[in-house]
Amino acid sequence: MLTEIVAHRGYPKKAPENTLASFKKALAFSIDILEIDVHLTKDQQLVIIHDEAVDRTSNGHGFVKDKTLEELLKLDFGSWFSPKYNDEKIMCLSELLVLLKKINFSKKLLIEVKTDHFAYPGIEALLVKTIAQFDTHKYQIIYQSFNIATLLKIAKLDKSANLAALFFYPTWQILCLSKKNLITAIHPDNRWLINRIFWLKPSMIRPWKVNDPQKIRKILKCQLAGVITDEIELALDLRKEIQGG
Ligand code: G3P
Ligand code: CA
Repeated sequence: MLTEIVAHRGYPKKAPENTLASFKKALAFSIDILEIDVHLTKDQQLVIIHDEAVDRTSNGHGFVKDKTLEELLKLDFGSWFSPKYNDEKIMCLSELLVLLKKINFSKKLLIEVKTDHFAYPGIEALLVKTIAQFDTHKYQIIYQSFNIATLLKIAKLDKSANLAALFFYPTWQILCLSKKNLITAIHPDNRWLINRIFWLKPSMIRPWKVNDPQKIRKILKCQLAGVITDEIELALDLRKEIQGG
């Protein structure tokens, strides 16, 4: 099996992360998984953004949880990256699901549920409900979170959900859940993993965020399940060189 190339926040080297422009850039390559980050607005809308606050990636200030979707849509989510992207808006999860259907997406969508700083009560149920309303049968959805309670809530709501634990350091809880197959993949910080690859089952591991060519090479040589990276083209080239595909 080839190691999956996971496009982290789209293609953030080429366009503002987690925006439509970034996703289009990533989807232009033969990536295996598209990774996004999801938060909840004040009016209970699922939006795609990495940080809890809008300050770093827009011309606005404050937390996503304190703003309505209408307020967020007035912000410019592209100029911080380049003036060329001054029309980029925040994207709702539902808009991305419409796009994936339209382009006949058949790979995997990795949704990070960002409940590690704010709990966003009800976000898990809303996610499962929203996804059920769309035709997603052509591709696989994987939920990931640093918050294991979020993954367990999703598991209760959707017995067939694919769940991945994100972590800086593994806990016994994560290892036990993966042994019981409740968690089907583990997504460790590469700084912890890189000298401990032999500890874990290679087919379950997709480390993040790996942009260094030497580390990507090591991951490909160990035939891990995936590599979560900003360097899509580099990773695809290295995979061709090392794994032949
Ligand atoms: O996919 C894993 C990675 O996205 C986790 O870190 O901070 O980039 O969301 P972060
Ligand atoms: Ca993420």
